[in-house]
Amino acid sequence: MSRLVIYGGQQLHGQARVSGSKNAALPQLAACLLSSSPCVLRGIPDIVDVHVMTALLRRLGAEVSELKGGGPGRCLRVDAASLTGWEVPEALMREMRSSIILMGALLGRMGKARLSHPGGCAIGDRPIGFHVDMLRALGARIDTRDGFLEASAARLQGADCVLEYPSVGTTENVMLAAVLSRGTTVIRNAAREPEVVDLQGFLNGMGARVRGAGTDTIRIEGVETLYGTEHTVIPDRIEAGTLMAACLIAGGRVVLQNVVAEHLDAVIAKFREAGAVIVPSGDTLTVSAPGEIMATDFRTLPYPGFPTDMQPQAMALMTVAKGPSVLTETVYPKRFKHADELRRLGANLRIEGSTAIIRGVSRLSGCTVSATDLRAGACLVLAGLVAEGLTAVEGVSHIDRGYDCLEGKLASLGARIQRQA
Ligand code: EPU
Repeated sequence: MSRLVIYGGQQLHGQARVSGSKNAALPQLAACLLSSSPCVLRGIPDIVDVHVMTALLRRLGAEVSELKGGGPGRCLRVDAASLTGWEVPEALMREMRSSIILMGALLGRMGKARLSHPGGCAIGDRPIGFHVDMLRALGARIDTRDGFLEASAARLQGADCVLEYPSVGTTENVMLAAVLSRGTTVIRNAAREPEVVDLQGFLNGMGARVRGAGTDTIRIEGVETLYGTEHTVIPDRIEAGTLMAACLIAGGRVVLQNVVAEHLDAVIAKFREAGAVIVPSGDTLTVSAPGEIMATDFRTLPYPGFPTDMQPQAMALMTVAKGPSVLTETVYPKRFKHADELRRLGANLRIEGSTAIIRGVSRLSGCTVSATDLRAGACLVLAGLVAEGLTAVEGVSHIDRGYDCLEGKLASLGARIQRQA
């Protein structure tokens, strides 16, 4: 089992390039199934979740190959001409709960899908009721049998889909299912995340007729066929936010390349409040931090609010801030597994329901801690950057799911961090 070993206390200086977005790449890889002509996706991050998704696409009969010389990141060509499968293998489904996104794409292309129920995970319940309800609204028949979801529809029929909550995955699943349906679909109370907007761009490149992504109402006119296209995924705003947080906690000055600053408005506003000087310019962002963090309250919300995927990193910052802070998690109310590990490093905090109450301490002290999920792992790495002595972060496989060489990027900025096999 590999682990990341960090010697805290080094300021960060230099430049790092942010990889393509995990949460944009995954639904777009699923979208490639909708066409029988090949699609090319550029800027794909080299992370385990993408490896799992490409393994899933291959098991369903798609050909996935890597094209060289396609610019930064991986360039993947997906040819789903000979798609034969509609059953998502249980083992792969368990490795990545977001594979529920394949249900919409498979229904759209094959008229049927069979997936195992994704179940819960470390950040709390991961229910799929919204997905099932909305795909049923489009005319799919969905039954649960022996822990599997079996969905079928001759051809989906456009419908008015009102989401109970602006769920990102549900919005994307409905978009994938509706682009090849008969008639018009309207998604109300849709998620407004940049990844949804990027999916709209990719689908429209394939010939779909989707508009409104980025607002709370998305309209989709079904079309008969989709074609192959090429697309570059947006930069990963959560990786950018994590590297900004690294600069804030360690102190120093870092220039991040391949950033869309508008996608980070809420994060930038909060990190400025916490003492960072942040200057966006074109597709770069310069972060300067004095090494002293002001106590700041955080409340996670759907986009454009402060992202839940940055909450654990914000908590790491607040453990060494000057004064008390309150962090409220409204998206995944139980996403606090990292709090126990931060306490082992010397943090002073307590959890009350969906709120963390944190009193900044003057120092953390390194020890062995364990990541239970992706962002918890990032949180512990950040804490390790400032903790005295040696911090060993176990459970690195969680970090590898969603960060394209986090330790390499931090090391290139001057952090003393290395992977031990
Ligand atoms: N929810 C339900 N029922 C459903 C679906 C969702 O109750 O059928 C609830 C969830 O339990 C949660 C809330 O709705 O409380 C929001 O979930 P959402 O559906 O928006 O999340 P998701 O689509 O499953 C994506 C990201 C997550 C990110 C969330 C919220 C991908 C692949 N995953 O998940 O990313 O936290 O949106 O922004 O896009 C991560 O990258 O670390 C990560 C967990």
